[in-house]
Amino acid sequence: MKLVVLGACGGIGQTLSLLLRTNALIDELVLYDVVDPAGVATDLSHIPTRQQVRHFCPLSKTDDSQLRTALQGANIVVIPAGIPRKPGMSRDDLFNINASIVQQLVRVYGEVCPEAFLAIISNPVNSTVPIAAEQLRSQSCYHPEKVFGITTLDTLRLEQFLGELTGAWDLRGQVYTVGGHSGETIMPVLGNWRRRLSSEQIENLVHRVRYAGDEVVQAKQGKGSATLSMAAAANRFLCGILRATCKGETVDEVAFVNVSRLKTDDCFVREMMHKVEFFGVPIRIGPEGVAKVGSLGSLSTDEKDAILRSVPTLCAQIAKGARFVKESK
Ligand code: NAD
Ligand code: LMR
Repeated sequence: MKLVVLGACGGIGQTLSLLLRTNALIDELVLYDVVDPAGVATDLSHIPTRQQVRHFCPLSKTDDSQLRTALQGANIVVIPAGIPRKPGMSRDDLFNINASIVQQLVRVYGEVCPEAFLAIISNPVNSTVPIAAEQLRSQSCYHPEKVFGITTLDTLRLEQFLGELTGAWDLRGQVYTVGGHSGETIMPVLGNWRRRLSSEQIENLVHRVRYAGDEVVQAKQGKGSATLSMAAAANRFLCGILRATCKGETVDEVAFVNVSRLKTDDCFVREMMHKVEFFGVPIRIGPEGVAKVGSLGSLSTDEKDAILRSVPTLCAQIAKGARFVKESK
């Protein structure tokens, strides 16, 4: 099992690589970054595991030979490459720089290992995942069931903030977020917990989850955005993917995926599939990728309304990503 981290020297990349270094399901961990990852790789390689750690960086600004070698034979590729926010910026403000970074990395992924699972962290996720999709489509190698935007951090935050409110600390699988990964497009689904909270508590909780990224950006005072919690979130997601690919298990995760051709028994999800091409939903993942969209359970009218209200914003951010690739051709 070969897992490649593209952007391995960053705040997320380093912490995530540390967490992945101790995962017994990975045989080869490959670190790639435009900043030479030799130091990070050597440091990690002193942690005793049977895993092999390799590292690559481009030889020049235009060189992609090292990226090709890094990706050769990859089973899973994760992309945390890109710039993070500073106070006062929105995720969409990162578009101009990160769109090109993601497109360039995905182009080579498409040429070298398009069958690998691809998990994108780089913001704005609502646009970078459509960028990846459009780029791969143009190369005739798009496998929508294997391309994911990681939104797990929103769910981690929901579990934590709900835990702070209620004292319940084992909320995994009971609550999660759907939709996208920015402001109002993030929609917490509270399931049975909704009945235990007042409407004011719900309103505050939903708002805090939606804007939790800003809390970290402000607290870091210009030195970036969430890295440690994001690495934990990506590690949770990738552990699921690893179990599906290595052990043939079927795992339940939530991610931002292309929902247009997926199967579901949930009427509301089916309605959403007609409105929006990409959406964060609970998914069942097997060795070949997403097998099915899970049910959202019984949503409240408020939850349904909020999801529907966010559709135009989400569609605009998705269209912006697809347009970027079409116009770059
Ligand atoms: P960072 O600046 O610490 O690290 C980014 C790394 O990417 C750097 O090491 C940089 O050298 C590398 N990089 C830049 N261009 C590259 C290229 N073309 N090829 C390979 N590597 C390249 O940033 P960070 O804090 O780790 O955040 C990374 C991205 O993740 C940001 O866009 C941020 O907004 C996003 N993010 C997403 C979530 C989420 O929930 N999906 C959460 C937190 C952060
Ligand atoms: C987050 O939610 O923390 C990330 O998307 C980073 C950011 O810019 O807020």
